[in-house]
Amino acid sequence: MNMHATTHEELAAEIGEQFDTDAMAQESTLLNPRFYTTDFDELDRIDVTPVRAEWDKLIGQMKSDPNKGHFKKNEDWDTVDWDNMDPKLKREFIDFLVSSCTAEFSGCVLYKEMKRRGNNPDICELFNYMARDEARHAGFINDALREAGVAVNLGFLTKAKKYTYFRPKFIYYATYLSEKIGYARYITIYRHLEQHPEKRFHPIFKWFKEWCNDEFSHGEAFALLMRTDPKLTESFVNKLWIRFFLTAVFSTMYVRDHARPAFHEALGVDIDWYDQEVFRKTGEIAKQVFPMELDIDHPRWMPNLKRMERAFRKMEAAEKQGGIGGKLAKLGAMSSAALAFAAIYTIPVKKSTPPASVRLEPAY
Ligand SMILES: [Fe+2]
Ligand SMILES: [Fe+2]
Repeated sequence: MNMHATTHEELAAEIGEQFDTDAMAQESTLLNPRFYTTDFDELDRIDVTPVRAEWDKLIGQMKSDPNKGHFKKNEDWDTVDWDNMDPKLKREFIDFLVSSCTAEFSGCVLYKEMKRRGNNPDICELFNYMARDEARHAGFINDALREAGVAVNLGFLTKAKKYTYFRPKFIYYATYLSEKIGYARYITIYRHLEQHPEKRFHPIFKWFKEWCNDEFSHGEAFALLMRTDPKLTESFVNKLWIRFFLTAVFSTMYVRDHARPAFHEALGVDIDWYDQEVFRKTGEIAKQVFPMELDIDHPRWMPNLKRMERAFRKMEAAEKQGGIGGKLAKLGAMSSAALAFAAIYTIPVKKSTPPASVRLEPAY
């Protein structure tokens, strides 16, 4: 696809065009993921010389574009009976698709911006390929949503959403993790449905294997970027930050997944099992670059995730309640969520030494 758009709106239009915007129906408001911005000049100063051989290999792989023809409906795309889907499942599944689409598009916008604002040819080339992939992913989900009579108006989204500024190093930690956790989530569902094909209630899951390989290689790129500067993963303060991001990304996923019980039940997936499985895979992979792993079998881990999840539900209820009572209830819930977070954050980590060669291949 043509990737010469210069503004977010044009970019969104391009994705839309590729997938027939005329069919677009109502806009959804269920938009959780954030959009990010960063210090593009600092990013531009990266020198990939220390990882040149591995870098060129990865870029060559992205350039060859193995998934070029993958994100298109074909005869494997079974008809979906949206009208007769259980209303609770339908609501949760649409929420899943909308937040996935928004997350993909948020990646696309950030990568596109990094490419547009950069002058460093290595960086520009990388982010061009990654933006290409995320645009396809977002477009494909949006296409599935359109069949349900819902489509995320991506152009509107980029204007309406707030942008969060992150220093480049925080972008590396957060984006690396979100790519790897994306891989682990997609492959875990895919493998589960291979074993239980009768639970595959929507054809989009058939596309997850090639899809997750894209996310895997995006994660590899960030792993290489982090390797260009050892301080990023070795200094005392940065280790605390890495620990923070691991804890935040994992616990956010736990809370979000537990808001979709009917969706997981339809897949035949126990949410606690699924989340632990995704944490285990992500943690194992992340040892390629992070000198630690969270101890997700520690006795404080699961009880405090559950505590945090309950606190978030109370927070929501308190918001709905409103008034002074609602405000007080919300404060109480916030402090119990914070305590649960602290209890998890302070679990001793399992230290490890990243291997000399950072690169990995998808193994699950
Ligand atoms: Fe993606
Ligand atoms: Fe990605």
